[in-house]
Amino acid sequence: MRLKNWLLTRRDRLLGSPAFHQSVLRFPLSRWIARRRARELFDITAGFVYSQVLAACVELDLFERLAAGPRTSAQLAAACDVPIEGLERLLRGAAELRLLQRWGSDGWRLGDLGAASRGSPGIAAMVRHHHLLYQDLGDPLALLRDRSRSALSQYWAYAAEPGHSEAENAQRYSELMAQSQSFVADDVLAHCSLEGRRELLDVGGGSGVFAAEALRRFPDLRARVFDLPDVAVLAGERFAREGLQGRGHALGGDMFLDALPRGADVISLIRILHDHDDDLVMRLLRGVRRAMKPDGLLLLGEPMAETAAAPGVGAYFHLYLWAMGSGQPRSLARIRGMLEAAGFADVRELGSYQPLLVRVLTARPAAAS
Ligand SMILES: C[S@@+](CC[C@H](N)C(=O)[O-])C[C@H]1O[C@@H](n2cnc3c(N)ncnc32)[C@H](O)[C@@H]1O
Repeated sequence: MRLKNWLLTRRDRLLGSPAFHQSVLRFPLSRWIARRRARELFDITAGFVYSQVLAACVELDLFERLAAGPRTSAQLAAACDVPIEGLERLLRGAAELRLLQRWGSDGWRLGDLGAASRGSPGIAAMVRHHHLLYQDLGDPLALLRDRSRSALSQYWAYAAEPGHSEAENAQRYSELMAQSQSFVADDVLAHCSLEGRRELLDVGGGSGVFAAEALRRFPDLRARVFDLPDVAVLAGERFAREGLQGRGHALGGDMFLDALPRGADVISLIRILHDHDDDLVMRLLRGVRRAMKPDGLLLLGEPMAETAAAPGVGAYFHLYLWAMGSGQPRSLARIRGMLEAAGFADVRELGSYQPLLVRVLTARPAAAS
C-alpha cells in the first residue's frame, strides 16, 4: 500500500506538470498516450454539450425524419421550424458525433449512432426525461448539498417518499421503464432460463413487461407482478391487452411494508435494488427471503457500479440516483454481501449481452437461514 501510494503520488506530480506534458509530446509512444489522455479529459469536459446535441436531435425528431432518406439543410430547417443557421450548427455537431452523416454538398442522412438509436426506442424516452436531471445538475454543488427539491425526485415520487403511489406519476415513470424493459427482459431471460419453473413473482415488476415476456417464452409458467397499487393496475391492463390474463396476475402493495405473496419458485428483482438505500434494500431482501420456497431461485438484474465492461457508467448512476432522492449503483461484491447477509447463498453472475444496462445474478436461500 505504501509503495503504491508513493508510485501514484509520483505519477500525479508528473501528470500535473506542464513541463512533463511538453516533453512527452516529443516522443511517438508517449505522445500517443498523452493524446489519448487529453482526448479522454476533453470528452469528460464536453459531455454535457454532447448530450444536449443528442437531446436537440431527439426533440426535433431528426432521426425519424432522416429514416425515410437524406434531406437538405433547408428541408430540415423548414420541417423543424428552426432557422437554417442555427439548425446547421446542430447538424454539423451531430455529424461530428456520428449521430448524422453528411450526404452530398448540402444533404444529411443518419449516422451510425443515430441509426442505432432508432433500434432502441428506450433511448429517445430516456433522453427526453433527462432535461430533469440536467436541470438538477445545472448547479451540481447545490444538488450535492440539498437534493430535497430536485426535479428528478418529483418524477420518481417513490424514491423521495417510499411507498408513495399516485396514478399520474406512476403512469409516467412506468411508461419510461416499459420502453427499455423489452431489451432488459430479452437479456435477462436469454441468460436465465425459467424452463421447468411454475411460478414467477416479479417484485417491483412495473407495468408487467418483464413478466409478460417470461410468460410468452415459457408457456407452462404463471406470473404475478407485485408493485405499488397504481402501477399494478397497469400490469393487470397489460396482461388483459396481451391475452395473458389467465396466467398473469397483478397485485398492489408496498414491498417494504407488506408480506410478499408466497408460493413462487422464482422471485425476480429487475432494476429495483439500485433505487433504494441500504436499509430498505436489506428489508426488501429479507422479505423476499421469507417469501421464498427452500428450492426457490432469486433472479436479480440491474446495472452495477464498477462494471469493467462499461467503465464510467457507475458515474452516471451515482449522480442520477442521488438527484432522484435515494439509492445508488452497487458493485457485484456489495450486492453479494447484502444477499448473503439477508440469508441467500450460491450467488452467481450469469453474464449479459449489455452489462451497461443490466447484469444478471441468481441466488438461492441459504440452507441454515
Ligand atoms: C426502476 S422501476 C423498475 C420496474 C421494472 N422492474 C423494470 O425493470 O422495468 C422500479 C419499480 O419499483 C416499484 N416500487 C417502488 N417502490 C415500491 C414499493 N414500496 N413497493 C412496491 N413497488 C415499488 C416502482 O413502482 C417501479 O415500478
